Amino acid sequence: MTLRLSRRAARLTSSLIRDILQVTQRPGVISFAGGLPATEVMPPLNFEGLADDYRQYGPSEGEPALRGLIAQKLSGLGMSCGVDQILVTSGSQQGVDLVGKLFVDEDAKVLLEAPTYLATIQALGVYGAVFKGLRLAADGIDPDELRRAIAYRRPAFVYLIPTFQNPSGFCYTDEIRRAVAKVLDETDIPLIEDDPYRDLVYSPVDRTPICAYLERAPWVYLGSFSKLTAPGLRVGYLASSRELFPSLVRLKQASDLHTNRIGQAWLARFLGSTEFDEHLARMNRIYAERRDAMQAALMRHFEALAEWRAPAGGLFFWLRLTCECDTLALLRQALERNVAFMPGEPFFPTPAHRYPSLRLNFSHAAPENIERGIALLAEILNGSAE
Ligand SMILES: Cc1ncc(COP(=O)(O)O)c(C=O)c1O
Repeated sequence: MTLRLSRRAARLTSSLIRDILQVTQRPGVISFAGGLPATEVMPPLNFEGLADDYRQYGPSEGEPALRGLIAQKLSGLGMSCGVDQILVTSGSQQGVDLVGKLFVDEDAKVLLEAPTYLATIQALGVYGAVFKGLRLAADGIDPDELRRAIAYRRPAFVYLIPTFQNPSGFCYTDEIRRAVAKVLDETDIPLIEDDPYRDLVYSPVDRTPICAYLERAPWVYLGSFSKLTAPGLRVGYLASSRELFPSLVRLKQASDLHTNRIGQAWLARFLGSTEFDEHLARMNRIYAERRDAMQAALMRHFEALAEWRAPAGGLFFWLRLTCECDTLALLRQALERNVAFMPGEPFFPTPAHRYPSLRLNFSHAAPENIERGIALLAEILNGSAE
């Protein structure tokens, strides 16, 4: 029997991340591959005392108490954003998907950082987006390149992760944030700002959302509780400029009616408690130690092999390798020796900006395993360069 599926289905690709994560579930594997919170850092879940009402269907926009807390947080970041502009989503991944549904017809142009978040490439690719990468440096994208790319491509929108970017860990300077906002305001191109890492901060840096600097361009801001609490809850959110909001709510309704109510209720209670501040301080202290452990291990073993910057926040080191090297072959060798990492190449939306690179997560492995895993990776890389 021949299956007759949509053109969209033909664009589905399997997720390299997911395939690799399956292997890393094996006991004894040191994994630098995923973007997982450390199990011992996640807060315990306790649903006791939550009202029975949460068993029933709820509002598509999300639970009022949680929406209120999110609006308060975003206003504190300088965004002009009322509670009626907040939509709670099933992870911020759903926000990316809703943006694709809202803006992307087949062959619509989308500008994004090169490299960028792999699952955004997949999610928007399904709708037929055509990507144009913007070169990403440690201080952000180049606003002049953005202006030229907008003039040349007339994109449906620009998608950016300015704070502790995935995969690079880079954080835009305030000057670049303001310059990007200016270009978008002048050209009236919508900004999709994805910001799931902003609260994982280990050294002081500027990180005002670019959305807070916009004066007229349409915008969608995506946030998440996955990295802050527990990704299994699947609770994220979006905020948007007023003209986009009603369509995003209807798309959410058409997709899954509403987000998991129990998770939202638990989050509203947890975020409003003193336990939350203690949790955040502890998590950032532990992650800062692991970042420092990885930085020290890299200095010991990778100085001749790669260039990198220690990130001020987030979950990743991004290594630009100094040799031409097949990182997929390297991954296969590393997995044989029970170490996992993410090859950098799939994070590039087009081949044009690609260079040999690795993404290393530092939140998941214990410090002693970080040293062991990095030493092993260097050994394999040295062996394959000979
Ligand atoms: C940049 C970026 N956006 C979105 C997500 C998805 O997060 P969530 O668990 O909220 O769906 C991730 C997860 O790793 C991410 O790195």
